[in-house]
Amino acid sequence: MTDRDPTADRDPRLDPAAMRKQYRVAGIDENDLAADPMTQFGRWFEEAVVQELVYEPNAMVVSTADAEGRPSSRTVLMKHYDDQGFVFYTNYDSRKARELGANPYVSLLFPWHPMARQVLVTGTARRTGRDETAAYFRTRPHGSQLGAWASTQSTVIPSRAELESSYEELSARYPEGEQVPVPPHWGGFRIAPQTVEFWQGRENRLHDRLRYVAEPDGTWRVERLSP
Ligand SMILES: Cc1cc2nc3c(=O)[nH]c(=O)nc-3n(C[C@H](O)[C@H](O)[C@H](O)COP(=O)(O)O)c2cc1C
Repeated sequence: MTDRDPTADRDPRLDPAAMRKQYRVAGIDENDLAADPMTQFGRWFEEAVVQELVYEPNAMVVSTADAEGRPSSRTVLMKHYDDQGFVFYTNYDSRKARELGANPYVSLLFPWHPMARQVLVTGTARRTGRDETAAYFRTRPHGSQLGAWASTQSTVIPSRAELESSYEELSARYPEGEQVPVPPHWGGFRIAPQTVEFWQGRENRLHDRLRYVAEPDGTWRVERLSP
């Protein structure tokens, strides 16, 4: 053992404590917000897509917790949004899906760092209907359709070779051009938001945080949070 700082000789640019960006972008004002959070999300999402600063602006971090309250997070791709919420697709036997089965409370995070923005959602998840799942599955590339069958997502497997051989067997059974059935263990979750926070980085860490909160009567209240 040595008490010498292991990072002492390293490039100073690698020190996370010294990483500090000054956010200078314009703020957000209560008066400019849409009446509901999904419309507001649509505006920000459009800006994220059009400005092309963010790689995969539809990537979001989904955090779930098991029945004992132990959390876990992972990135997924948001594939649809509307006034009912945000939709992603996954394996229904995966860790996240099992956790959502036991505890539907979920949080989403869109980390749009290059725009000094993030959108934070809390809500509840429920499975999409089979028709909606099937309609989306048919839009996926053939290889992704086979991948959904080949993967026993979140389980321990002996090797990559096993995964690839299962994919090869499937591609022999369903060659390109042949319709691949929707796997019964695969489908969507729709997250109905309870709160949606729009976070905009500002100078001197005086960031804007405007949060929509669902009221029991179906309307939305907007509140400003201290940064
Ligand atoms: C950019 C990105 C996009 C991803 N999109 C999805 C997705 O849409 N659905 C999915 O099930 N996993 C997706 N993944 C993989 C997940 O992060 C995760 O590894 C997988 O869903 C298993 O998670 P779980 O074991 O916690 O259930 C994505 C990963 C990355 C990095």
